[in-house]
Amino acid sequence: MSRTRTQVGIVGAGPAGLTLGHLLHVEGIDTVILEDRSREHVEARVRAGVLEQGTVDLLVETGAGERLRREGLVHHGIELQFAGERHRIPLSDLTGGRSIVIYGQTEVVKDLIRLRLDSGRPLHFEVADVSVHDLETQAPLIRYRHEGRDEELECDAIAGCDGFHGICRPSIPAGVLSEFSREYPFGWLGILAAVAPSNEELVYAHHERGFALLSLRSPELGRLYVQCRPDEDLAEWPDERIWEELHTRLGLEGWTLAEGPILERGVTGMRSYVCEPMRYGRLFLAGDAAHIVPPTGAKGLNLALHDVRLLAEAFVEWFRTGRTAGLDAYSDTCLRRVWRAEHFSWWMTRMLHRAEDEDAFDLKLQLSQLRYVTTSPAAAASLAENYVGLENV
Ligand code: APR
Ligand code: PHB
Repeated sequence: MSRTRTQVGIVGAGPAGLTLGHLLHVEGIDTVILEDRSREHVEARVRAGVLEQGTVDLLVETGAGERLRREGLVHHGIELQFAGERHRIPLSDLTGGRSIVIYGQTEVVKDLIRLRLDSGRPLHFEVADVSVHDLETQAPLIRYRHEGRDEELECDAIAGCDGFHGICRPSIPAGVLSEFSREYPFGWLGILAAVAPSNEELVYAHHERGFALLSLRSPELGRLYVQCRPDEDLAEWPDERIWEELHTRLGLEGWTLAEGPILERGVTGMRSYVCEPMRYGRLFLAGDAAHIVPPTGAKGLNLALHDVRLLAEAFVEWFRTGRTAGLDAYSDTCLRRVWRAEHFSWWMTRMLHRAEDEDAFDLKLQLSQLRYVTTSPAAAASLAENYVGLENV
């Protein structure tokens, strides 16, 4: 058994853990990042790809946005499709010039891993049996196995950035957390396809057969989704069926969806979840470890980065001055933005998907809501400011 020390022990090398490690490194604070999967696995996971302006600014301002600035695609609007027509929401016009950037989460993760390795600070992949201890003391501890050895890492604080299925949240004693959640009776079947996107902007389509989304990763790579069952068996979806469903749901007169070889495919369930508070003693939860949103609002990654920005600022204050004001406010401050994003993501999801338990009344309400947000500048502005990311929430 070997024992080492660090200031902040970070569990999980997803966007939250890697960004926190990066922000603290820039401030000269010592961290160890522990990840149970391999580097190859983490760098190959295809996830969402819409970055809010604030997310982009954070990465660029702290030196992690060099490739993002070069390769990210700036978008000034999105389109909503329903009843056979497309309607543009001019995001930038409605939000005083703010925009979003299309850049895969996978690419953000690759950039952050490279920076971390260059910094020389520890990032261990393929660790096993990670557990957290003594959380209510001044010397919390992480135990894990790495390269066949048992390790103990003594910390001043621990950041639980290990996602929804991680071990940090379940290590908090029963009765401390309040949990809030909603399951949706559908999922998304997503594909990455080697084809130039058939539309310049994202298209969110409401269709009687279910939701579909046209997105992209680059001028040569399309990212598309169709609503499916949450437990959908991919074996029932040969390529032809996927394209046929996409054509039906996204189709418009005078417009054709271009097809290309499918490079990757997967099914994601949809869930809303929040735990409160996001702290127990010296364990601080960030990102998916504390909250999940359905992907319809494109908020998951953005929320995770907002959490760790606040957490990094609070740690800097604490290590420099001993003051705990930032750490004490961390959970409440994060949760204000988390709940705004929870509402927005739930609202977008309900407006765009068809559920089996819904009737003709629900359908009429959805169509009325879609018409309202695409015709009333006030309603469109509300969607737009949430989509690009609200300031001061
Ligand atoms: N020990 C170490 N690492 C772990 C453990 C564990 N016991 N359990 C999980 N992990 C790792 C996962 O392998 C993953 O790399 O923690 C990381 C968590 O990363 P994400 O799940 O990507 O979560 P987060 O960093 O909070 O990123 C925000 O929001 O909408 C989503 O897709 C978006 O994944 C993104 C997330
Ligand atoms: C994506 O490109 O993967 C994507 C885009 C918008 C969303 C969700 C996912 O709302």
